[in-house]
Amino acid sequence: MGAVITGWGKCRPPLSLTNADLESLVDTDDEWILERTGISARGICHLETTDMAEVAARHALAAAGLAATDLDLIVMATVSPEISCPSNACVLQERLGAVNAGAFDLNAACSGFVYGLSTATSLVSSGVAQRVLLVGVEKLHFLIDYRDRNTCVLFGDGAGAVIIENDPRSGGDAPGVLGVDLGADGVAGSTMVIPTLGTRGELSADRDPAQHRLHFEGQAVFKIAVKGMSESVQRALQRAGLTSDDVDVVVPHQANERIIRAATRRLGVDDDRVVVNIETHGNTSAASVPMALCDAVTDGRISPGDVVVFTAFGGGVTWGSVVLRWGDRVTPITTSDVELPAPTVDVYEVLAENRAFFQPLYD
Ligand SMILES: CC(C)(COP(=O)(O)OP(=O)(O)OC[C@H]1O[C@@H](n2cnc3c(N)ncnc32)[C@H](O)[C@@H]1OP(=O)(O)O)[C@@H](O)C(=O)NCCC(=O)NCCS
Repeated sequence: MGAVITGWGKCRPPLSLTNADLESLVDTDDEWILERTGISARGICHLETTDMAEVAARHALAAAGLAATDLDLIVMATVSPEISCPSNACVLQERLGAVNAGAFDLNAACSGFVYGLSTATSLVSSGVAQRVLLVGVEKLHFLIDYRDRNTCVLFGDGAGAVIIENDPRSGGDAPGVLGVDLGADGVAGSTMVIPTLGTRGELSADRDPAQHRLHFEGQAVFKIAVKGMSESVQRALQRAGLTSDDVDVVVPHQANERIIRAATRRLGVDDDRVVVNIETHGNTSAASVPMALCDAVTDGRISPGDVVVFTAFGGGVTWGSVVLRWGDRVTPITTSDVELPAPTVDVYEVLAENRAFFQPLYD
């Protein structure tokens, strides 16, 4: 039995932090950011993680023609959960009224959606679940220091969601997962770290700004990313009995356009087969792959039966790739007009608390 994607949706928050906005916050400029990263603007969410997840999920459910009560499992990939217990997936289950669904969170940092896709398709193929909602969602701005130009230009908030259902066909050109590669290297874990949000350390009412913020080693991560994604895709393709010539579309993690181009050119996949939406979204960690997928389907870049490759790398260090033959449908069964409530504040007001919190590090 195969597992296919039958619904897709995303939530790109309405507030944008543009490169011009960043010029007024840190010592940077539009040219540097665009040239080094490919990013012009990123979404900043004025609400909570679950609000974005709900919007993306309702679009995905509509595209699949399903009600929330049809779901039997919700998997949520995130490194920025609202709380640790209940899981974000349970909070979303309640919000959607998905009363028949089990729910759990999964953390593989920016690789979270690809790990989740492997997990969810396996559960569907084995008959454990019939209809799974898989969401990648991040409110990263909570973890970023908007006084540090080295990190704050890269990241954005957002959510993407897919519905995965079983397909009775097997063998030959049947749709479903063709090959998977998942990997990790804990030894290199210190290259990308969010030190707090866990039990390590002392009990303290005060958060330490130096410990709270996301930290990465830019050039080390760059190299890990290019090597990690390209070699992971090669292994997944090999397991599928395919080569890069067989690939119709690559949907990579959107960390930096230069990383994406370097990794996919190394694979021998030309740029027009690669989905890139980082310019308007930034790096949204676990949300980036499903948001890029949603754009690709909506823009008509995926056709029935296409071989689609999902690949990502992230903190851990983790990496993963899924090679999937798309099903029959690339148009939504129904559509939803749900969106986040309009903000009553501007992007500077959303970031004001953040900038005040990190100020002591710069005094
Ligand atoms: C971060 C990244 C964009 C930096 O690009 P780069 O080409 O490697 O740039 P470098 O690290 O060589 O930095 C060059 C200079 O630009 C400066 N710089 C950094 N951020 C800047 C900014 N926003 N604006 C202007 N200059 C900046 C640095 O301070 C450095 O100056 P120096 O040479 O005087 O020390 C790139 O390394 C990258 O994308 N890495 C992956 C990061 C990632 O994906 N993280 C996500 C996982 S958590």
